[in-house]
Amino acid sequence: MSEILTHVDAGVMTLTLNRVDKKNSLTAAMYAAMALAIHEASTNDEVRVLVIQGHETIFSAGNDIADFLNNPPATEDAPVFHFLRGISTLAKPVIAAVAGPAVGIGTTMLFHCDLVYAGDNAAFAMPFVNLGLVPEAGASLLAPKLMGYQRAAEVLLLGEPFKVEAAMEMGLVNRIVPPSEVNALAQQQARKLATKPLSSLIETKRLMRLGQASQVSKQMTEEASVFGRMLTEHAAREAFTAFMEKRKPDFSKV
Ligand code: COA
Repeated sequence: MSEILTHVDAGVMTLTLNRVDKKNSLTAAMYAAMALAIHEASTNDEVRVLVIQGHETIFSAGNDIADFLNNPPATEDAPVFHFLRGISTLAKPVIAAVAGPAVGIGTTMLFHCDLVYAGDNAAFAMPFVNLGLVPEAGASLLAPKLMGYQRAAEVLLLGEPFKVEAAMEMGLVNRIVPPSEVNALAQQQARKLATKPLSSLIETKRLMRLGQASQVSKQMTEEASVFGRMLTEHAAREAFTAFMEKRKPDFSKV
């Protein structure tokens, strides 16, 4: 079965991350499929709202680390950056339903969602530094803005995970429900949005994001350039190899 599933019903496109055996970690092929789905959501008049969901035990473990090693997204043309550009500029509303861990891009993509509903088992982490990398998706700008500089330093420099209650307190999550209810809640809210005038939704979203849209875009370009360079450097290679070999990385020489 496909690792990215989409279907459209009642004005809502639902995109499901479907690689549970690998904790919904995302490969280049999956990003390409997600970018395509977002393009379809943008251009298909039958789609008014996009919902992104995972499984009730895992939202996403972030980028597939084996893919980072074998197929590093070195240029801005890589599928991951197509996906990020797509989600960060989609004019229509985007809702995320998050249960279980949301790691790396599993968390950073949420900065570009308009509503985030979470299971009480949701947990967030942006451990880019622990992988010898830097944040992507504009997170180096949007995390300090959302949670304050020092809290962002804790999650971006120390790479410390944070729980769903903290995510709700900082405004990243709208509501916490049992994991088995999170997808249904996202659908219910999406259907509510889908009955509203689309032009008002689109213009309201555009106006809410207008003040920072060009800054976010500039930050994402800078992040992508640093990220692409660091992916092939020693620290990242060591971190990825250590993950694959199920051992702790040794950064003593970097
Ligand atoms: N890339 C590739 N494979 C991954 C992965 C990733 N990001 N995350 C998990 N997997 C794989 C594991 O290697 C394992 O594969 P195996 O069964 O062939 O050994 C399988 O998914 C299950 O993962 P496991 O770690 O045993 O599950 P868990 O429930 O104990 O922990 C996580 C779940 C998400 C907390 C943990 O897998 C994790 O921390 N993953 C890495 C997250 C990360 O650093 N992502 C990159 C962010 S930029």
